Amino acid sequence: MTDLLDGVRDHYRATGLIERLKAPLAALGPEERPLAPEQLSGLDQFHTRGLAATTELAKLAGITGDMRVLDVGSGLGGPARFLAAAHGCRVTGVDLSESFVEAARYLTGRTGQSGQVSFEAASALELPFDDASFDVALLQHVAMNIADRARLYREIRRVLKPGGRFATYDVVLRDGEPHYPLPWARTPATSLLLTAEATREAIEPAGFQTLIWHDDTETAKAWFAELRASGPPSSPNLGVVMGPEFAQLAANLGRSLMEGRLGILTAVFEAATVR
Ligand SMILES: C[S@@+](CC[C@H](N)C(=O)[O-])C[C@H]1O[C@@H](n2cnc3c(N)ncnc32)[C@H](O)[C@@H]1O
Repeated sequence: MTDLLDGVRDHYRATGLIERLKAPLAALGPEERPLAPEQLSGLDQFHTRGLAATTELAKLAGITGDMRVLDVGSGLGGPARFLAAAHGCRVTGVDLSESFVEAARYLTGRTGQSGQVSFEAASALELPFDDASFDVALLQHVAMNIADRARLYREIRRVLKPGGRFATYDVVLRDGEPHYPLPWARTPATSLLLTAEATREAIEPAGFQTLIWHDDTETAKAWFAELRASGPPSSPNLGVVMGPEFAQLAANLGRSLMEGRLGILTAVFEAATVR
């Protein structure tokens, strides 16, 4: 398992990321002027359909201002900052990648949200929180890097309050193998995809009851088709974070969806009252 975690860490290791972020951010305004979280959405929402997907997932999860929310695999912190700004909740993000956590803290300073949103470097398989600490947990485009799904979902269940919500938005396997390299893995060694059904079979025994179950593949395909037609993005984008080959990684995900090899799943679960 350590080999796998090291491989995933390597994939998301972004040396000198904060310095690299400063140049595109300078175009958005002077450093002392707080940025609006959505100004960063081209580069800090690291999943299919970006900010639109986070907005929808938060609505489905029923997030409100009095809640404590955990974002598991929080990346650069874009979803966490958006949730805090849009819903007024307190958000904690946790991510395996030290460089992403440092960048997430830096960007949160730039949006002036450090009092409401915080980040910790840790594995989703060993969450550094007490039992029943959160009302909602989000997992967006993370599970495909994790082999031990039973442990992942048990950890999420453990830190949720009884009756709390778990909202997941992930890439799933459909028919055949995807085209590599992909945004989360350059080779199959760190890509641990499951089908949608196998995902449900891993989640429910961890102590969850399914509330919402959507196949979002067609919406994702339409988004990729639009992206392809509109050409390279003008605003700061994930190429700053993942390097110039990111366009190719994203194109392989789009192609794998179009060819029916991969799908996109949105699901919301309720944590059982008894574990
Ligand atoms: C594709 S990014 C998605 C980031 C974020 N959820 C978003 O949607 O913007 C996947 C993230 O999952 C994190 N990750 C992968 N495996 C992890 C693990 N075992 N524990 C914690 N984070 C993990 C990676 O470091 C990376 O930041």
